[in-house]
Amino acid sequence: MARRYLLWFAQEHLDFRHAEMHSIISMLNIPIKFIENPSINLPYWIVELPSEFCAKQIASRSVLLKNCLELWSRAKSEAKLHENLKCSVKNKSGKWIIPNHNIEISESDICPSELLDAKFSYLPLEGAVNLNKPDVTLSYIEFYGVDPNNVPQQPCDLFFGKWIADGQRDLIKFHTLKKREFIGNTSMDAQLSLIMANQAQVAPGDVVLDPFVGSGSLLVSAAHFGGYIWGADIDFMMLHARTRPTRVGQKVRNKEESIRGNMRQYGIMSQYLDVLVSDFSRPLWRQDLKFDALITDPPYGVREPTEKIGIEKDNYTLSEQHLDNHIPSKVEYGLPHIYSDLLNFAAQHLNIGRRLVCWYPLVRDEYLEEQLPSHPCMQLVGNSEQVLSRMTARRLLTYQKISDDIPNMPHDPHGAAHNFRDKYFAVGEISRREKKERRAEEIAKTAFYLKAKQEECNKK
Ligand SMILES: C[S@@+](CC[C@H](N)C(=O)[O-])C[C@H]1O[C@@H](n2cnc3c(N)ncnc32)[C@H](O)[C@@H]1O
Repeated sequence: MARRYLLWFAQEHLDFRHAEMHSIISMLNIPIKFIENPSINLPYWIVELPSEFCAKQIASRSVLLKNCLELWSRAKSEAKLHENLKCSVKNKSGKWIIPNHNIEISESDICPSELLDAKFSYLPLEGAVNLNKPDVTLSYIEFYGVDPNNVPQQPCDLFFGKWIADGQRDLIKFHTLKKREFIGNTSMDAQLSLIMANQAQVAPGDVVLDPFVGSGSLLVSAAHFGGYIWGADIDFMMLHARTRPTRVGQKVRNKEESIRGNMRQYGIMSQYLDVLVSDFSRPLWRQDLKFDALITDPPYGVREPTEKIGIEKDNYTLSEQHLDNHIPSKVEYGLPHIYSDLLNFAAQHLNIGRRLVCWYPLVRDEYLEEQLPSHPCMQLVGNSEQVLSRMTARRLLTYQKISDDIPNMPHDPHGAAHNFRDKYFAVGEISRREKKERRAEEIAKTAFYLKAKQEECNKK
């Protein structure tokens, strides 16, 4: 029977909350009914779910969810909260009821009333208590809004209910880059990697590919949720962990550093398939091979070059004598080309209903949703912004494959990410100049103040 639940979220990465939750709910095929329209300014949702098991399943995946309560009473004032609870207690059936809604909430759960605040002493709670391993945890929440500079005298919302489960916030600490053996300059932080794996709906047994794998940070999360992982990258040195160490003070990389080593560190070695040196513009995968999910963070041309194998010269041929030791040259791999290759690849190599999740950099002022990369076989189902600086951001795009009618789309030269690199550095110049000017102004102001003070002292 459907019950009412309070889902309490971390008040960060707000733009990702819906995308993550909807991905999880649709992956688990759980019907959810909103009792109140969710507001992005509030850290909670009040929903109806078919069972406690469903609530636990959602909590077992979400990184943005802090915890979940079965909601027994909710009110705008303390008096009303108690009134609601007392009505429930009086109910003859001995069940907890939300007044007015007539929805059964829970059996009366056992816990001695003396442990509760005197205000709750009317609750019919009996029996022994085991504080180390409680059978039931009851929660009373007073909500004072989200503005720390404007805290009201009285709470604006009060909740009481039974704790059901915590979300997966602990994983953020467990997977933190600070303690990871192998990281690179562009490793994705643990929280966003986990969100990506959720949005890609990675389930146990799925085969997942990151075609711009770098240090493999996205694969750690995919493997954590049971995916079997493949990675590819054009950079031989990166894949063999022979690039300059990223950590301050580290002179040489440890021998154990590698993507495989990271999997070993987290006890998920069994999920590792392999990583390959490969240029994404020339895919090496069999045409009929299918992946269950693609998750990736392509190069933006800022901290790593956007490049592919090629040569500017026309009709270039390699002489026999150079064949053995030849190291191919590289040319620019523009962002519009990268994203159209990515969508074409996804249309070819995903099964219907499966997902591509990728980051997309842009200049915020110039963002237009209609200019995002598109493909007739791939429907955009998630689009969340992470602000990087005053002017720039990146968007986490989630595409779901909806059709098998695989046309190979040409690249779109007007894509918004077109010359992100040039704009990024232009913006950087401005802000550096601004910073210099501001510092000069501050120095001048301090000098003026000190001079005025000195003059005042002299007069005395
Ligand atoms: C933003 S980084 C990915 C970072 C990665 N998510 C991690 O955890 O370290 C982009 C990666 O794409 C790789 N790359 C650039 N051009 C490529 C190409 N043509 N084919 C495959 N990989 C490429 C770079 O070597 C770089 O490692």
